[in-house]
Amino acid sequence: MSVLDAFDCSNRIAVVTGASRGIGRAIALSLAEAGADVVPAARSEDALETVVGEIEQRGGETLLQPTDVTDETGVRALFDRVEEDLGHVDILVNNAGINPEDALGKPEAIEMAGYDRTLDVNLRGAFLCTKVAGEHELASVVNVASVGGVVGLPRQHPYVASKHGLVGLTKSMAIDWAPTTRVNAIAPGYVATELTEEAMENESLRESLLSRTPLERFAEPEEIAAPVVFLSSDAAAYVTGACLNVDGGWCSR
Ligand SMILES: NC(=O)c1ccc[n+]([C@@H]2O[C@H](COP(=O)([O-])OP(=O)(O)OC[C@H]3O[C@@H](n4cnc5c(N)ncnc54)[C@H](OP(=O)(O)O)[C@@H]3O)[C@@H](O)[C@H]2O)c1
Repeated sequence: MSVLDAFDCSNRIAVVTGASRGIGRAIALSLAEAGADVVPAARSEDALETVVGEIEQRGGETLLQPTDVTDETGVRALFDRVEEDLGHVDILVNNAGINPEDALGKPEAIEMAGYDRTLDVNLRGAFLCTKVAGEHELASVVNVASVGGVVGLPRQHPYVASKHGLVGLTKSMAIDWAPTTRVNAIAPGYVATELTEEAMENESLRESLLSRTPLERFAEPEEIAAPVVFLSSDAAAYVTGACLNVDGGWCSR
């Protein structure tokens, strides 16, 4: 097998959560370009419908099943339908994530509702999807963490707690599910998406984030997606329990 063949995801079925836009959409389309049949999962039906069309244009099979990762009945319905209509799920990418306004600020300013919602989507949601999908042996799980899963970030305590938790789950699940299922995480740096819109619009914050990034620019969603394809493919056959920083050097400081 040539090295390029190892990146080929043909004949694999993938589910990507939080794929209605942003990084998740780029991951779903990149996996489809690598040959996988990809099911994008998120709540917004209209946006998902567009992504489903884009996957079909790339030649992959797919289906439309709006899903909230915090809802166990909905998550079970998603994986049951994928198994029934497309076949066995090989690849799971837990990408759905939030960082809401009421979860930002100094600890004393944070609303517990914001804290709970952040943990619910970013950590519990990822665990729930992995647990349900993992009832039928997966080949690969990739958890989309953050530099906030590796180092602290000011004013983002619930988000940082959720992403450190996700990196922890990655390691413990990698041990339990070896040697059949590989479980890895990526830790992206800053990408201009809806999630970071407010930070990007704040000129002084934007400049301070850029000056903290050795590569001196933000990432494109596709630059996060390519390492996810790598980790999901046989090119990463000996990689499990890892957290790959895709952060322009942020965590090297
Ligand atoms: N952007 C960055 O700089 C950055 C950096 C590091 C890590 N990340 C991580 O990368 C991931 C994607 O972020 P992004 O920047 O692409 O954000 P985004 O543009 O806001 O997209 C978030 C995605 O998550 C989905 N989502 C939110 N709540 C959900 C729920 N309860 N159930 C299912 N789907 C849900 C959203 O879809 P619906 O609203 O349609 O449900 C959307 O598709 C997140 O985990 C984030 O923490 C981002």
